[in-house]
Amino acid sequence: MTATTTGRPRRAAGPPPREVPQLLAAIGRDPLTAAVGLYRRYGDLVRVPLLPRRPLFLLCHPAHAEHVLVSRQDNYRKAATYRPLRVFLGDGLVTSEGELWERQRRLIQPLFSHRRVSGFLPGMVGTIRRTLQEWDGRPDGALVHVSETMSLLTLTIVGEALFGADLRGVGARVSAAVTGMQDFATTAMRNPLLLPAPRLGLRTTPGYRAWRGTVEAVDEVVDQLAAERRRAGPAADTGSQDLLDALLQARYEDGSAIGPRQLRDEIVTFLMAGHETSATVLTWTCYLLAAHPSARRRLEEEVDTVLAGREPEFADLDRLVWTKAVLSEAMRLYPPFWTLERDALDDDEIDGVPVPAGSTVAVPPYLVHRHPAAWDNPEGFDPSRFLPGAGTGRPRHAFIPFGSGRRGCVGNVFALLETVAAVTMLTQRFRLDLAPGGVPRLQPTVTLRPRGGLRMVLRHR
Ligand code: HEM
Repeated sequence: MTATTTGRPRRAAGPPPREVPQLLAAIGRDPLTAAVGLYRRYGDLVRVPLLPRRPLFLLCHPAHAEHVLVSRQDNYRKAATYRPLRVFLGDGLVTSEGELWERQRRLIQPLFSHRRVSGFLPGMVGTIRRTLQEWDGRPDGALVHVSETMSLLTLTIVGEALFGADLRGVGARVSAAVTGMQDFATTAMRNPLLLPAPRLGLRTTPGYRAWRGTVEAVDEVVDQLAAERRRAGPAADTGSQDLLDALLQARYEDGSAIGPRQLRDEIVTFLMAGHETSATVLTWTCYLLAAHPSARRRLEEEVDTVLAGREPEFADLDRLVWTKAVLSEAMRLYPPFWTLERDALDDDEIDGVPVPAGSTVAVPPYLVHRHPAAWDNPEGFDPSRFLPGAGTGRPRHAFIPFGSGRRGCVGNVFALLETVAAVTMLTQRFRLDLAPGGVPRLQPTVTLRPRGGLRMVLRHR
């Protein structure tokens, strides 16, 4: 099938307007369950008449993902649903648009090349070693808070690699802000009718004031980072240039430097986008490995053979095929960004269905990753589908945990390195088992977290 057809336009299936209040209530309770329900009832292209003349389209086929994110990407910009995030992230790389986004992406992209990112690996390994040492003193059978540990780990990695700063002391404040931001954005997501009037609407949401407090706490951390670097001079004196140097030293075509507001927005964006996603992947990976002991045994064998007790290096990456397959399978089942949303600038047609200008299209990786046209046994955990040579013939956009097209994730190589390093180093020393009643329920906020976090039982290997 192709996403765009030239045949006679057809009307997409979807709920009638009279069911919208019921649907809004369902979205309010749990937007992921509501999306899954729509897909099951109407198929992979659903038209939801949420607002008059501004319908929402739910697009679940890999070809739809390719259409919106790649082939017709010029016609789509980040949807109004990103506005709550913008209240927090400002005009950082995730939320900006147009010329500003292009300028910032040109500036930041080179720092995330394979070569540059490989230079971050020794620092990542050191941070993982120190973090795991905290579990050394815990006895077998101890309950460890996996999601909190992973969150602090990835925050510390981002802080050191990109900002040359030790963020362990402020981890709790940043985590509270991420949770606050997610809650706030979710409140808005669950009340789509607030979105057209963001300034007024969002400020009426419960918890806005409390959430503002967490923003101010993070702004303090960010100001401190920039001020310390300005005082100390570039990190390049002691090593290679990091993101903070790149931002502070950047000059635009007209010779001007980045203003303080833009600097703040980029730092907050990278603190948030750079750690919550990877932490979520690591958390789900720990859960899936405990739930599938044969996959875990194969991982232990690979890690023991390839690394033979030493710490991972960049050259090991090619041989850690099962490790990478496990991580990919975890991201297939639980993509951190479970839905990607865009607004159509002009009229379009997807799969023969007219999509009027102003419509919102939601492409949920959660559903694309489970589409039966692309995946056998879509609900099952089977890392072997990601082994080299497997999956030939699978549509390219059947697997989009990092998005695709120009707005695809700039940190994907960074994420791959830190998650491979963390999983291998954890596997060398520990085995995590499910705690009683420890099968997590999904919490679909901006990212797809396990509800209430994830605690697991620690065993030393
Ligand atoms: C496994 C971990 C990660 C996943 C699954 C992930 C996923 C994504 C996705 C899906 C997008 C596109 C969002 C959209 O199209 O609406 C994105 C964008 C982005 N990601 Fe990641 N990400 C991860 C890790 C990282 C890391 C480690 C960093 C930084 C160090 C990062 C920085 C960003 C930035 C700045 C953008 C915006 C790019 C732009 O619009 O130009 N991400 N990420």
